[in-house]
Amino acid sequence: MVDASYKPYGLEPIETASRDEIAALQTERLAWSLKHAYDNVEAYRKKFDAAGVKPQDFKRLEDIAKFPFTTKADLRENYPFGMFAVPQDRIVRIHASSGTTGKPTVVGYTQADIDNWANLMARSIRASGGRPGMKVHIAYGYGLFTGGLGAHYGAERLGCAVIPVSGGMTERQVQLICDFKPDIIMVTPSYMLAILDEFRAKGLDPRESSLSIGIFGAEPWTNQMRGEIEEAFAMDAVDIFGLSEVMGPGVANECVETKDGLHIWEDHFYPEVIDPESGNPLPDGEKGELVFTTLTKEGLPVIRYRTRDLTRLLPGTARTHRRMEKVTGRSDDMMIIRGVNVFPTQIEELLLRCQGLSPHYLIELSRQERLDVATIFVEARPDCGEATTRNAEAAALAMHIRNTIGIGISVMVRDPGTIERSAGKARRVVDKRPK
Ligand code: DLL
Repeated sequence: MVDASYKPYGLEPIETASRDEIAALQTERLAWSLKHAYDNVEAYRKKFDAAGVKPQDFKRLEDIAKFPFTTKADLRENYPFGMFAVPQDRIVRIHASSGTTGKPTVVGYTQADIDNWANLMARSIRASGGRPGMKVHIAYGYGLFTGGLGAHYGAERLGCAVIPVSGGMTERQVQLICDFKPDIIMVTPSYMLAILDEFRAKGLDPRESSLSIGIFGAEPWTNQMRGEIEEAFAMDAVDIFGLSEVMGPGVANECVETKDGLHIWEDHFYPEVIDPESGNPLPDGEKGELVFTTLTKEGLPVIRYRTRDLTRLLPGTARTHRRMEKVTGRSDDMMIIRGVNVFPTQIEELLLRCQGLSPHYLIELSRQERLDVATIFVEARPDCGEATTRNAEAAALAMHIRNTIGIGISVMVRDPGTIERSAGKARRVVDKRPK
């Protein structure tokens, strides 16, 4: 794992540019992006006209607040290609993200978009401690999901050897890690836990594996989970963030030397945090909904895209680009349990403080006599012992939740290996309440 002597490698000048330089570049690029969207996408033209704003009204960065938001619904209404801003023959790649309901959201890239994405992913892998010549095992899904191919192009661009495994077939994942000896793994943190189980099931010591860096994202995960994975594999676990509508993975990434939140690559994305109720911009440091405007995207520019992810903006540290705090959750994952807002990550943080409980969990919501009831199903660790120990662990977790979050939740401790694993993004909440 990295120590105080760690020196970042091969920084691009823009990664340490002054705030004035970054702001000047953003102003120039935002003006271009607003005009590009207005001139080439009917949906943007209509929205801007309805709000009474024109691209020329943008003069300085604060002016962005005059422009209307874009949401997933806009992309759905213009399914599949209505938000593309270039003629079809300039699109070289199409991805889509499957929502839980309705049509998928479709995104398109020009060759220049693919090049920028590869460069930003290469920058992200480098920030995570990656170097040319390393081997990268990619277990994000390949296909319409942006994880696999996004990571793939970035790792190649950095000069790494890519092992394009995709998700699933956990035994084979472990076999390939043992045989090919990759330095880096890129995968969802929840699937990394399934890989960890498989190491142990095979009697292999994960700390002896060749892996020294894990680049984990696509779903919320806590610092407690980071500790769990780093300890188990003796590796650095670094957070990567992104979303298809804005590009894919590589919109923001942690630096391995600080692990203090994710630097947003501000030369390509302009971030804002807004109050999700009023839509008003919030000052840096305050928590709210993350909003992005793309600065260079040709195929699918997005203007003030509401991510629904909750976080806050913080000043730069290892780089001059601002950081976003680790995402606590999405506004759509928020459970309201008897009036209290709760995110799965809050539960994850507490359950990993209980020594006998594993990080495999599922929260079930049901209704009993008009009252919402939440139950946490969590696996015992293999060494957790008999029923009495398990009951004590369940009681301890319920007490932590009551004391910290302020609600009563029942906790059911299950046998190891009984909670469903996912090969990609984990499902943490099952809502069985009548609609
Ligand atoms: O999940 C892109 C990605 C792939 C990111 C691989 C990182 C690694 P979508 O499928 O469009 O794209 O889902 C985007 O996933 O709005 C967040 O809610 C969530 N998400 C992504 N990264 C993180 C993260 C990809 N590091 C949605 N922490 C986003 C928390 C994340 N949530």
